[in-house]
Amino acid sequence: MTQILPYNDASIKIAAKAISDGDVVAFPTETVYGLGANALDDKAIAKIFEIKKRPQHNPLIVHFHDKNIVEHYAEMNDTARQLAAHFWPRPLTLVLPLRSDSGLSELCSAGLKTIAVRVPAHRTAQALLKMTGLPIAAPSANLSGTVSATSPVHVMKTLKGRVPYVLADGFADIGLESTIIDLSTETPCLLRYGSITQKQIEDDLGRKIDVFDSAQHIKKPKSPGQLLKHYAPSIPVRLNAVDVEEGEALLAFGSTKFMGLRSGGHVSIMPSASKLNLSEEGDLYEAASNLFKMLHDLDIKDHSAIAVMPIPKMGLGLAINDRLERAAAATKI
Ligand code: TXA
Ligand code: MG
Repeated sequence: MTQILPYNDASIKIAAKAISDGDVVAFPTETVYGLGANALDDKAIAKIFEIKKRPQHNPLIVHFHDKNIVEHYAEMNDTARQLAAHFWPRPLTLVLPLRSDSGLSELCSAGLKTIAVRVPAHRTAQALLKMTGLPIAAPSANLSGTVSATSPVHVMKTLKGRVPYVLADGFADIGLESTIIDLSTETPCLLRYGSITQKQIEDDLGRKIDVFDSAQHIKKPKSPGQLLKHYAPSIPVRLNAVDVEEGEALLAFGSTKFMGLRSGGHVSIMPSASKLNLSEEGDLYEAASNLFKMLHDLDIKDHSAIAVMPIPKMGLGLAINDRLERAAAATKI
């Protein structure tokens, strides 16, 4: 049985007690919903892997309510302190050397000598972290390999009956997982695109950073979760579509004035449930927040595939294209 807890003080108390008692709770963050457990408790963390069917070699992000607490668990150098001061609480995850006396469950780091940490900005995540007083490890609240959840409904889609509580607080504003920067190497390296861009990080640090190339490292990914096959709907995803084939759904971006059907005619004659627009205005922030929700909504058996219109590869568009390329890679033969 899964109980949905609406956002209020009583619900936060129930969720906090469940986490302190070693249970797993789905909760909102500003990026996507997370599946949280006490990061100090091996058994609780093992439950996350079991519930999500996540391979044990894929480490988790540990969440904290304040940047100063992170120092107890990870080695923070000047670069880490600078980024923490300027970007936390916000959707930025830092990969840092793990402190030998951290006390964190080894399952969180999957045996690596580094740990991924972040301080989320969301009111519910903050309240939960504060009330438990614990570091909370949380991957995205979806079955491994499926599209991340941006609402309680999406959490329920793959985890109903597998998790005791879903702490509900509407849609996740940003809708894309946090940016990940590895600071355990000499030159910082962007491991996952997110709403905080490479340029923002480089401007802040006053130097260039590396970018991890997932296609090149597919055989031995630096970030084990960065396998190309990820974030996948159950039907194929076709990118950079300039028209729509019969049976396909359309995920549009911007104006659809010039989008036609392969069989003839304009996409305006498609049923409205098969045609969603990430942002009619072509706004990348709006598109990011709609991406996973719309992939969920179009992912139904009536559709043979999801045709996605091109999205500019700049700024936040890089993160959107990254998630879409993974979704498409998973369905290629
Ligand atoms: O926005 C987010 O980051 C969400 C919310 C819930 O906080 N969490 C999230 O977690 O996206 P997850 O588990 O779906 O993705 C975490 C990514 C994975 O690709 C994992 O391989 C990588 O972070 N990661 C974790 N620890 C790492 C480490 N020590 N070194 C390199 N990559 C790491
Ligand atoms: Mg995930």
